[in-house]
Amino acid sequence: MNWLELKQQIQSSPAFILDEDQVLANLLPLQSLRQASGCKILYSMKALPLASVLDLLRGLVDGISVSSLFEAKLAREILGEQGGSIHLTTPGLRADEFAELAGLCSHISFNSWSQYQRLHALDSGYSKGLRVNPKLSFLADSRYDPCRVNSKLGIDIELLRDGVPEAVEGLHFHTVFGCADFMPLQLTLEKLKPVLKRSHGLRWLNLGGGYVYKALGPVVDLIRQLKADFGIDIYLEPGKALVGDAGYLLTTVLDHFVSDGKHVLILDTSVNHHPEVFEYQRQPRLLEEDASGDLIAVLAGSSCLAGDLFGEYRFKRLPQVGDKLVFAEVGAYSLIKANRFNGYNFPDIYSLTQGRASLKKHYQYQDYRQQWWDAGA
Ligand SMILES: Cc1ncc(COP(=O)(O)O)c(C=O)c1O
Repeated sequence: MNWLELKQQIQSSPAFILDEDQVLANLLPLQSLRQASGCKILYSMKALPLASVLDLLRGLVDGISVSSLFEAKLAREILGEQGGSIHLTTPGLRADEFAELAGLCSHISFNSWSQYQRLHALDSGYSKGLRVNPKLSFLADSRYDPCRVNSKLGIDIELLRDGVPEAVEGLHFHTVFGCADFMPLQLTLEKLKPVLKRSHGLRWLNLGGGYVYKALGPVVDLIRQLKADFGIDIYLEPGKALVGDAGYLLTTVLDHFVSDGKHVLILDTSVNHHPEVFEYQRQPRLLEEDASGDLIAVLAGSSCLAGDLFGEYRFKRLPQVGDKLVFAEVGAYSLIKANRFNGYNFPDIYSLTQGRASLKKHYQYQDYRQQWWDAGA
């Protein structure tokens, strides 16, 4: 990708840029997996619910996985009435939304026994599932670990020891994050097998998201075997694997000064455009960084928060006020979590196809005003 040229093409800053060709490239290993194993692929839209991404993937995936009524409505609008599966699981199912959700979703996996008992009969027409918590932890950081102690996510596998109720047609689990090897999946399926054997009415199993699918390795055989042993449909619902490395955040240096002997560059973006940088203290990759450079600068956001920092980066030549910089691999869980703290606008949104950027969305003062203007004002 020629970023020198792209930086000239993209006039506005900050800007979120989605490389649609990369999204399609990310889909290729998943399509091979689908072809080789017979599994079905859903896009987990929570990672990036841009309508243009949903539209791009429509017809190329078997459906969309969602977490709420709004996601389900947007997914159905894009997919159309007959246009593919919509799978939902959430701890936050509401009785007052259930009938509408049941009309929009093809599959609903209840997150707890009590959720199932209270809601499953309120409406029909969707396939009933349960989210199982396999109680196998693979993540060091318990903030992302659905199998942590006292977890709120899924029914403890021990409670399903004798199988699932007759009305239940599916099971769902999701236990990892950003995982490139399939050992966790293998171990989880081993642990789940006794439940699958005792659940006679099962028609589907959703293996969740969290895997990156660059190299497929043992996953093809794992899924083939599952289908052969239990005669069920297998669904995967990746989010980050499809959009993570397809997203970039372009920003401009607004100011430069030295603080306690260190260069500080203030950017026209902030961690509020990619809150996981702050939440998980994760430093995003910067295209302009040169690890062999001996100049170090702190890249800082423009909000009032002292900890609004992207981190320390190395350069051969220090970026100047007015220079454009680009953070990479920020396609997932960035825009969707972004906010306008301090009144700073959202980034403009561009899509990139065949090296050409086109502006998709620009937010105005009116959007900000509408969010905060209340009827009493
Ligand atoms: C239930 C469920 N499915 C799928 C996903 C998508 O995960 P990822 O984007 O890591 O593939 C998530 C992410 O939190 C999830 O909670």
